Amino acid sequence: MAEELTPSTPEEEEPQIKQRKNTLYPSVSDELAENMAGGWADTELHDLQPIAQAGHTADRRAALSARFPGERLVIPAGNLKTRSNDTEYSFRASTEYAYLTGDQTEDGVLVLEPTAAGHRATVYLLPRSNRENGEFWLSGQGELWVGRRHSLTEAEQLLGIPAKDVRELADSLREAAGPVRAVRGHDAGIEAALADKVTAERDEELRVYLSEARAVKDAFEIGELQKACDSTARGFEDVVRVLDKAEATSERYIEGTFFLRARVEGNDVGYGSICAAGPHATTLHWVRNDGPVRSGDLLLLDAGVETTSLYTADVTRTLPISGRYTEIQRKIYDAVYDAQEAGIAAVKPGGKFRDFHDASQQVLAERLVEWGLLEGPVERVIELGLQRRWTLHGTGHMLGMDVHDCAAARVEAYVDGTLEPGMCLTVEPGLYFQADDLTVPVEYRGIGVRIEDDILVTEDGNRNLSASLPRQADEVETWMASLKG
Ligand code: GLY
Ligand code: MN
Ligand code: MN
Repeated sequence: MAEELTPSTPEEEEPQIKQRKNTLYPSVSDELAENMAGGWADTELHDLQPIAQAGHTADRRAALSARFPGERLVIPAGNLKTRSNDTEYSFRASTEYAYLTGDQTEDGVLVLEPTAAGHRATVYLLPRSNRENGEFWLSGQGELWVGRRHSLTEAEQLLGIPAKDVRELADSLREAAGPVRAVRGHDAGIEAALADKVTAERDEELRVYLSEARAVKDAFEIGELQKACDSTARGFEDVVRVLDKAEATSERYIEGTFFLRARVEGNDVGYGSICAAGPHATTLHWVRNDGPVRSGDLLLLDAGVETTSLYTADVTRTLPISGRYTEIQRKIYDAVYDAQEAGIAAVKPGGKFRDFHDASQQVLAERLVEWGLLEGPVERVIELGLQRRWTLHGTGHMLGMDVHDCAAARVEAYVDGTLEPGMCLTVEPGLYFQADDLTVPVEYRGIGVRIEDDILVTEDGNRNLSASLPRQADEVETWMASLKG
């Protein structure tokens, strides 16, 4: 990236242009400014087809409108976040904005304006750069630096939503009368413009609604979740193929290998990949990924590709790095596998969300008693939660655009709720014996196993979207052998 430019006559610039800091070129002559203003082709795109989810986003906006009649609703995509100086983290639009528009443009804002019949939706975006006033090459957001944007007309065609210039939005929100709610936490400028018009309680109701609305996935979303799982399965295969290279380097090789698949086939990873070899597998969110990969140890790989539409998989496999589980590894693995089977069987419409957790915990508690690590009866163990020293976490969560999806939903709509067709959740029991746990025999210590799949609730039961990756121990070994050649 080259250094930045500043015009010689900044006072003549239009006020909305954010100028790049000048370090290399101290001035721009009038001749150069005039030269840069002309000689450019018209590249407007015509008759663009709507994005694939445009019909679904319209339905989602209609449901939102019906829930908050007569109120102005403001849903920002969010802004770029500084990484250092003038470089930024890669942008990921807010889930709420992307869910309701299908758009992922930084600084975008969806506004639902109340009307007699419901709401009128407008998406506010930064339009294409102006060539005449130098904006396109002198502004920090100029297209010459950051790439071509859609014109507002193009955006309207793609999204199926009228589009306006976002630079007009803050002032118009400040001036607008009437009740308003906003999704917080993404755009400080919009929040400042609304500061004396919104309340935390009312905004929270909007956030909760948008979290609960996402619990049941529509046909587009289910297709995207399947794509995410399929890409993730290919990423796991990539990792198995390079385990020897990881052994020669570190867990980072695994992280990088999976990331390549995520970036080529999707938008990104949906969360920091957990590439936990050996005793690191007992750390639930091991994302440092800087440890050694040793034959004879297990690799717990918890990773998910996020699609370009921002739906993520969340899959875990615990693999023998050598290709064969040892006796103690297999004993623990089989217990987790049985617990997962019991959990998956409990996922069905009309069942309680908690059922799959209870079913998995029951199996794990039974094994821990059977192995002599806990004193029975099993009912007492479960009642007191004693198995949790080694099971540690809940057995799953909703999955969608966020890896821990629907996180703002009310307890009665989620953890204490009932499963419905179209919900997608993870089933991910585990057993974790810390390396310094003196209460278990030494051969258990440093072994962590989790198996995680993405389960769609269907009309008559469930479908495992990540089933293409083997789970049963013999099948895992056969699969690994086939990939390693
Ligand atoms: N990858 C985080 C989780 O499984 O919830
Ligand atoms: Mn996971
Ligand atoms: Mn998970």
